[in-house]
Order: sequence, then C-alpha cells, then structure tokens
Amino acid sequence: MGSAAGKHGGSISPSPVSQDNNKTNIDDATEKVDGPIDDVRDKFDDTFSNDSEVIKSDTGTVIFVSPAPEPNKMTNGSKKPKKRAPLPPANAPVTNPNNRTSTKDKVTKLPSNYQIFRTHPSPKPLKRGDRLSIQTMESALTARDRVGVQDFVLLENYTSENAFIENLRKRFSEKLIYTYIGSVLVSVNPYRPLNIYTPYHQEKYQGVNFYEMPPHVYAISDNAYRSMRNEYRDQCILISGESGSGKTEASKYILQYLSICSSNNEKVEYIKSRLLQSNPVLEAFGNAKTHRNDNSSRFGKYMDIQFDYRGAPIGGHILNYLLEKSRVVHQAQGERNFHIFYQLLEGADDELMSRMRLKRNPDNYHYLAQGKCAKVSSINDKNDFLTIKKALKVLSFSDEQVTALFYIVASVLHLGNINFTDSGGRANIAKESMADVQTVAALLDCEAAQLEKALTHRTIEANREKMCSPLNVDQAVYARDALAKAVYGRMFDWLVHTINESLSVQNQVRRSLIGLLDIYGFEIFQKNSFEQFCINYCNEKLQQLFIELTLKQEQEEYRAEGIAWEPVEYFNNKIICDLVEERHKGIIDIMDEECLRPGDPTDQTFLKKLEETVGEHPHFITHALGDSKLRKTIQYDEFRMIHYAGDVTYGVEGFLDKNNDLLFRDLKETMSEASNTVIKNTFLKSELTKLKRPETVGTQFRSSLNKLMEILMSKEPSYVRCIKPNDTKQPDRFEETLVRHQVKYLGLMENLRVRRAGFAYRRTHDVFVKRYKSLCPDTWPHYRGSAKDGVQTLCQYLQYKEDEYRVGKTKIFIRFPKTLFATEDAFQLRKHELAALMQATWRGFRQWKLFHRMRNAVTTISSQWKRVQAQRLKEKRKKAVDVVRKFIIGFINRGKPRCPENANFLDYVRISYLHRCRDKLPKNVLDKSWPTPPAALTETAELLQRLNMQNMTRRYVKRTTPEKKRAMEEKVVASELFRDKKESYEDSLKRPFTDKRLTEPMKPKMMAMIEGGEKVAYSCHVTKYDRHGYHARERVLAITSKSSYLFDSKDGKLKQKIGHDILTGISISNLSDDLFVLHAPVENKEKGDMIVRSEYSIEAVTKIAILSGKKSEVRIVTKNLAHEMAGGKQGQIEFIVGPEPSITKAKSGNLIVVSTGRSR
Ligand SMILES: Nc1ncnc2c1ncn2[C@@H]1O[C@H](COP(=O)(O)OP(=O)(O)OP(=O)(O)O)[C@@H](O)[C@H]1O
Ligand SMILES: [Mg+2]
Repeated sequence: MGSAAGKHGGSISPSPVSQDNNKTNIDDATEKVDGPIDDVRDKFDDTFSNDSEVIKSDTGTVIFVSPAPEPNKMTNGSKKPKKRAPLPPANAPVTNPNNRTSTKDKVTKLPSNYQIFRTHPSPKPLKRGDRLSIQTMESALTARDRVGVQDFVLLENYTSENAFIENLRKRFSEKLIYTYIGSVLVSVNPYRPLNIYTPYHQEKYQGVNFYEMPPHVYAISDNAYRSMRNEYRDQCILISGESGSGKTEASKYILQYLSICSSNNEKVEYIKSRLLQSNPVLEAFGNAKTHRNDNSSRFGKYMDIQFDYRGAPIGGHILNYLLEKSRVVHQAQGERNFHIFYQLLEGADDELMSRMRLKRNPDNYHYLAQGKCAKVSSINDKNDFLTIKKALKVLSFSDEQVTALFYIVASVLHLGNINFTDSGGRANIAKESMADVQTVAALLDCEAAQLEKALTHRTIEANREKMCSPLNVDQAVYARDALAKAVYGRMFDWLVHTINESLSVQNQVRRSLIGLLDIYGFEIFQKNSFEQFCINYCNEKLQQLFIELTLKQEQEEYRAEGIAWEPVEYFNNKIICDLVEERHKGIIDIMDEECLRPGDPTDQTFLKKLEETVGEHPHFITHALGDSKLRKTIQYDEFRMIHYAGDVTYGVEGFLDKNNDLLFRDLKETMSEASNTVIKNTFLKSELTKLKRPETVGTQFRSSLNKLMEILMSKEPSYVRCIKPNDTKQPDRFEETLVRHQVKYLGLMENLRVRRAGFAYRRTHDVFVKRYKSLCPDTWPHYRGSAKDGVQTLCQYLQYKEDEYRVGKTKIFIRFPKTLFATEDAFQLRKHELAALMQATWRGFRQWKLFHRMRNAVTTISSQWKRVQAQRLKEKRKKAVDVVRKFIIGFINRGKPRCPENANFLDYVRISYLHRCRDKLPKNVLDKSWPTPPAALTETAELLQRLNMQNMTRRYVKRTTPEKKRAMEEKVVASELFRDKKESYEDSLKRPFTDKRLTEPMKPKMMAMIEGGEKVAYSCHVTKYDRHGYHARERVLAITSKSSYLFDSKDGKLKQKIGHDILTGISISNLSDDLFVLHAPVENKEKGDMIVRSEYSIEAVTKIAILSGKKSEVRIVTKNLAHEMAGGKQGQIEFIVGPEPSITKAKSGNLIVVSTGRSR
C-alpha cells in the first residue's frame, strides 16, 4: 500500500488527532508490521488509497485515515458486519453521508467517526495547509458539496453559466484556485501567497497520473513534460487571461517545475539558471505597473524550452510579441513606465549615474513624471536592479553590452526632456534642452549636431531628389517620441535576441520541446484602440486553435478507443479571424492600404473604407451600419466587432499612426551611425537603402501570429486559463460580474460544451476497477481477469444503462456526471463496511502479533534468567574454591615468615582475632578476661588489654560522683582494715557503704542530744550488750565527726557517748560475727567500753575509724577479747565457730559469740 497510497495520496490533513482513542490507534498503528498484514494490505490497498486522508502525527509519521464505520456497523467484538444490501441502480438517488458533513468538520478537525488504519513514513514532512491542496481528484468527489467539482465536465448543469461560476466561487472560497475543464486548467488569482508551490508539492506531482491529484499548474506541467519525454511529442502550454489574472505567475511556476523535473548535472543546472534568469530581465524591460497589475507584462511572450533525449533542458528560445512601446512616452495617471527606468534611477551607483548624467528623482523626467506614481509599495526597484544585473551576468551579457543597455535607457529619459520652441512654424530645440541632446548623443555615441537636426527636420526623397524640410513643434515632438519608442522597442528586441543566443543549444541534438505562451487575454475596455484590436485578434486565433485541437484530440481519443465519433456542434470563429486577417479583404490589409495610399489618409477615411469593404460582414458594425438602437452605443469614429467572446467597440483614432509606427528617415540615419553597441546592431544601415517600405505593425503582427499558430499547431497543447476574481487585487474577494465577464471572453463555457459533448468522465479500466471493485462481489477483493472485463462486470452489476457509458479499448467513458456520482456515493457507503472489516482484521492481527511477541518474550526472558542464575552460581563456587584453596595453602605455610602464600591466611588470623576481641571485650574493670591471642599477636593482645583497661578505668572514673568516691575511699579503708583479716569482709564488699541504715529518721530527741547540733555522719541499728550481764538491748548508734552516740531505740534517750578523743581502740573479731567493741576509759562519768553488734559491723567500724581518725586503733582479735568494766574489772568475750550464729552469756560469765565461719 505504501507506494500506492503515496501516489494516490488521500487528502492531507494537518489537523491534530484530537480524540484519545484515535491517538491510541495512531501509536498502535505506527508499529512495524509484517507477516499476515501483507494479506490485509493487499486486500485493502486499492480501496483505501484514494480516499484515505493523511495526517501527520507528532512523531512525523504519516497516518492514513479513513472514515470509519458508524459504531453500530463496526465489528466491535461480538458485533458482526451487517450483510451488504444489494446496490441500488447506478442512477437511483443515493444519499451520501459525506455530503451532509459540514465544511467546518471536514477542514478543522477529524470527524469523530474517523479511524486510523494505515501508516507509512512520509517522504517529506508535510505542512499545515497541505490538507486541502493535496487532495486526490477522486477523493474530492466525496467532498463535492463543499469544494464543488474539480473538473467542470462533472457539472451536472454544464450549460449553465451560473453553475459554472458557483463552482468557481465555492472552490475559490476554499482556496482551491485550480479547476479543470477536461485537460484545461482554470486558475483564479488568489492574490495571496498560497502554500501549494513548495518543493513538497513539486515532488508530489512528479510522474503522477493527471487525474490522481487535485488540479494544479504542476499537474499540467507534469503531464506536458511526461508526454514530451515519453512520447517525444512537442508540447505547448498556452496561458491566457486578462491583465493581472496570473498568467506570468503561472508561467513562472511552470518553468520552475520543469526545471526541477529533470536530473541534474552542472551543464543542466547552468542552462536551468539561464532559463530562469531570463524572466527577471524581460520583466524589467517589458513589464510595468498598470492600474490592473503592478507587474503587468506589456508584451506577449512565447518561450520554447528545449530538452535532450533524457528530458534534461538544454536550451530555450523566446519569441516576443507587440511590446507596448507607447508606454515609453506616455503613461496614464497611476501607471508607470517600464520597470527598468525606475530600477536604474534607484539602483545605479553614483558613478554610473554621473556618467549617464541622471538624477535619482523620477519626477525630473517627462517620460516618468506623467503617471505620478513612481513609487509602488509592492515593488523594490533597488533590489530588482541588483537582481537584473546578476541575471544579465548569468545570461553572459558583457559589461559593454550591459552599459550600452543602461545608456539607452538613460538616453530615452533625456530624450523625453528635450523640448522645442516654435519660431515661425519651425521647431527648434529649446535652449535648456541642448544639454539633453548632447547627453543623448553621448550616451548613444552619435553626432549631437546630426541628432539635433534629425529631431527638427525631415528629409523626403522624391524623384531621387532629397528635400529637407523643417518640422513644426508638433511634428518634432512626434519625431522625438517616435525615436524614443523605436530606440526602446529595438533595444527590447535586441535583448530578446541576445538572451536567445545565450539560451541557444550548442552542439546538442534537440529531442523535443515545451513551449510556454504567456500572452494577453481578451481585452475589453471603455475605450479600445489599436492594441486591443491586435490582442483580441490574437485571442480569436488562439480560440480557433483551441477548438480545433480540442476536437482533434477528442476525435483521436475516440478513434484510439474504438468508440464511434459523435459530431459536436460548436461555434467556429474562423469567420471572425478572416474578418481581420483575410488577404485584401481583411481589416489589416484595409488598414495597410489606407496607410500606404497617396493622398491624405486619416483614421476616418480608414473607417469609411472598412464600412465599404467589410460592412456586410455579420461580425462588423459601425455607427453608420447599425440600426437606430445600435447607433446609440457606437460613436461616429468607432467600429464594433462581434468577437466569439463578446462585442468590442474600437475607436479608430490612432489606428493608422500606430499601424505605421513611423520613424523619420533622418532619425534612422542618425541612429545607424551611432556607435552604441546595441543601437549599432538594431539600426542597420541596410535598412536605409531598402526600397521596400517596412511592414506595418498590423501585418507584422499577423505574420508573427500565423507563425505562432504554426508553431502551436505542431505541438500538443495544454491550456491554463487565468481569471482574476476582483479588480482591487484583494484576496478572498470574488466579484461575480467580473468573473462572469472573463468566463465569457475566455470562452470557457464553449470549452466546456465541446468537452462535454461526448463523455463527462473517462478513466483507464484499471483505475476504475481499482476504485470501485468493492461494489461488486465478482470483482472484490481481487478481479483476476482483464481490467476491461472487470469494468464490464462492474457496469453490469451497477446496472448502467446502455447510453450512459462506453467501454473503450483502454478507458471507460461515462456520459453523465450523475451516473458517476451515484457510483461514488455507493462506494462511500460501502467503505464503512470495509472499514469495519478491516478494523476487525487489523485488531485480530494485532492481538495475534502481540500474543506471539509476548510468548516469545516470556521464553526469552526465562531462559536468559536461568542462564544468568547458573552463571552467578558458577562464579560463586569458583570464588569459594579459590578462597578455600588459598586458606589451606596459607594454613600450611602459616609458620613461615610472611610470604605471598601465607599473607592472606595471616591477615585472616589477625583480623579474626581482632573481631573476636571486639566481640568479647570485658565489660567492666573487674573483668580480667581476654581472648587468647595467636602467637604472633601476644604482644598486641597485652597492649590492647592494657589499653582497654585504661579506657574502662578512665570511663569509670569519669562516671564516679564525689559521694561514690567517698564511699569507695571508705571501702579502701575497710579493705586496709579487714581484707584477709576478717572472714565476713568478702561479704561486705557486695554492699556499698551508705551514711544511714536507719529505717526511719532519727527522732528529734536523739538529735537534740547530739552536742552542738553536729551532723550525724552515720547511723544504724545496733544491739548493745551490757558490760555486766551482757543483756542485749536495741539501740541506735549515731556517729558524728566528734563522738559516737548510743540512743535507746524506743524512747530516744542517750545511753552512752564516747568522744572520739577518748576512744582508745576498736576491737572486732577475725570471724564472721558482727560484734565489735569501742574502747573507752572508765573514768569520770564515762561508762567505759561499748559492746555492740551490727549487721553492718564492718561498715560501722570503718566509719568510726575514719571519723575518729583512729584507723590504727582498730584491732582484729582472735578467740578472746577483754573489755574494761567499772571498778577496774575486765570482762571476756570469746569468739568461736559454731553451727549457728549466736551471742550468749556462758556459765563462765563470758560472752560467747558464735559465728558460722567462712562458709557463711
Ligand atoms: N498563483 C498565484 N498565487 C499568488 N498570487 C498570484 C498568483 N497568480 C498571480 N498572483 C498575483 O497576481 C499578480 C498579477 O499576476 P501576473 O503578473 O501573473 O498577471 P498577468 O496575467 O501576467 O498580468 P499581465 O497580463 O498584466 O501581465 C501577481 O503579481 C501576484 O501578486
Ligand atoms: Mg504578465
């Protein structure tokens, strides 16, 4: 489908696909497909190629879009397409749903029922605005309500001028400026740049069947080019239309297109650039701003482009017709002289200006000042001057030739400024104009005096005698203007001639050519003169040619197709051509006769002569010949011709003069002696010696036209008929009256009538079958027989009536548009069903494809994953083997000094030891454990252990509070006193010392008894044993910094006080009992020793020792302890080890203290 779709195109839409589901489809559809899709493609290819619309996705992909079936007709899952209803007869009225589609919907956004079903990459990025422009001819059939018909032959009411104009208007309003009448292209000037001449479009039209693309000047060009190249038949493209209708633009587009058609090499490029560059030069010298057109061609132009056998341009030749020389000396207000005058004044450099003695302001020159509009906004004279200078270079004009050209242009300006004074009926050059004469002479390189004389005198040769007579002022002005016109006119001819030399084919055999005729169309003005007469005569000739060739073509086609020729009635305008050109009887000859006859011929006598000679002619009327009604519309000095395109009334004034185009001999002579390169070559001396009178303008024109006709007749013609939609050069303005006028005088209705006399539609069999095969079960999806049989089968199935169509050898001919449209409408309906079928097939295929892809992906992924896993395991094992091997080698060599074999092992041992250390660090300072180091790390281990200990100690110290510190110091003292001396010492270690062991606060009574309110540093419950009798009594022991107090636990009375100063010792046994004795003298009031037992004996003794400062007085006794009693007696305390701890008074009177021994 790719290429077919590419060519057949489908309308191109820049519209973004706004709907989400469409977007999805785009993405989906853009994937690359193969396999079964080819079948689908084959099946649907032809059907959708023509009507598919093309849009460009964001990704630059081109997507073909076709109207999708309405939802209920779609095969969405369960819904099957409905069975196709039998088709209605071809000419039965069929409603086309597309006809109801609104213009807006069509243009601005994709209708919602559109589905995207096909995509392929675009050769070039498409541009906005392309959609309407590149729309296939056939697809436009579906949009005919909106865009009208693209070929007027499809107009149902083809004889109606209104229908014709309405079709033009419809299309114009859609910016579709081109429409065909068969193979004739009608072009309406859009007066705005259109985006339809891009390289993309040029490429699109190349080698494409004429009817496959929308009408375009490129299609005409391509058709002509292909026929020329493939069939070696010379071609010509005739472009006509009124001033400003776009002829020159069209011819430029054609030339441009032809220049890109062929292959490129340096030589071809060279000639192409020359062909293209000839345009600006000729336009500068031959175009001017007029009321109708800012760049109006004031000459007719026929250009041959010559091609070699490969179709590459190798040269060209230009023929020019009837330059409007009168413009050189006179312009109507609001019009300009030829562009070159203004370009020279604007663009020439100062040096050249001073050489030409010119001033920049155009108002200084009579020949430029009359129009009063030297400046035109649409024209840039300065730039244009540079362009033509470059173009002249490309065309190989020498510097001398270019200078000569500019000098002539300048000389014309100076010539126009020459004024004359009257002296007794004789004209003299005005004094102030002498300088101009000198300048003209200098520029043209001739004798100033001779020129002066030639401008004011006339030499007449009679009976071989020359007589020189002076001119009057009017005659002198006439002579001056005649000289200006002649100089300019001949310069123009020379220019064309020199360009032709530059374009001429050298050393190459020309194979074929394409001619391009850009010539003025029919002109009807308020006042029509000699020029209009010539122009309209030219158009009569072209019309005649057109009719002849069109009929010939038709006849040839019918013959070739084996179809019987049916004669066509048409108006043969030969009678009008004869009226103008017939020898001795035609208007031109009558005019010539009148010009040449002796006596005093005038325009009036010429008119009389006409009345006498052609007065009877049905196409000629004058005031005198007309009836009373006609007389009112024709003046005495006018004649009217009934042209094929309409009636034109010509004023005879100036006819003879213009026909004569007389230049006095003296001026010719002066010019022939001039040395200016161009003048020298255009005013030949031989001209002076010729006896024969030069041919009149009319005769010259007639013979050049006849030559042109011969040229054109020998070629296969194509036509471009240009129409301008309004007089104000405005885009979007379609003035019906103006267009009607042009349709009439371009003879378009006649064209259409001739074309439609036979069949409205013709297409080759294969194209017809390809498009409509889906309408008949026998031809769908493939017709295996010949295309011709396919057409027959289709026509029968579609129930075409016998007179509606003919099947030729290669083409089918359909007589009436309605037959075709009915078929087209049926096709549009059928497309919905096809779209549904296609969509279902496509979806199925896509799912199938997706499933396969996923299945393959699963297999691939799982096998890959397994592979990766196995690989990883292998690597892991390999690594493990390496490690083990290294470890064993290291182990074997562990005893050796460090070497590569054991380095890792040793490192491992070290690291693992360090790890062990880290994990088993001692948690406190008392924990002296440390992992056993390997031999090599013994020293390190010690160091580490020490460091760790220091670290722990430091941390411990940092954490120690003053209270704790004091308690520790007390412990230290306790250690000094009891360590290894008393059995219960070990147990005391577990209990930290405290200042208060009382369960409740000391009673105030006790506190009151403490001397001087000293602070109680330690207090605890004790059991006190009397010195006499050893009765046990519960007491509270309170120790201050000065004394130890013993209070009654119950009533709080002070029972005993031993000042530290009198404390003579503290005794305690070495066993695990808790008894201790504070020794004090028994004198004065003192009671003597204090025997007490405290659960916290070590703590209490330590505190007392510290507070009293009598550590040294602490005595650890074994077995016996004597204590002082009153009256100098001594008591005995015995310490023994027994099964149960107890303190009892023995019969001996001693106090027996039993302790359980170390095991406690
Ligand atoms: N196809 C076009 N697209 C855009 N503008 C156009 C087109 N054709 C013509 N024009 C416009 O119309 C103007 C007149 O066109 P052009 O010079 O081709 O007319 P013409 O028929 O050659 O007139 P004349 O007979 O006076 O030479 C152009 O300068 C251009 O502005
Ligand atoms: Mg033109």
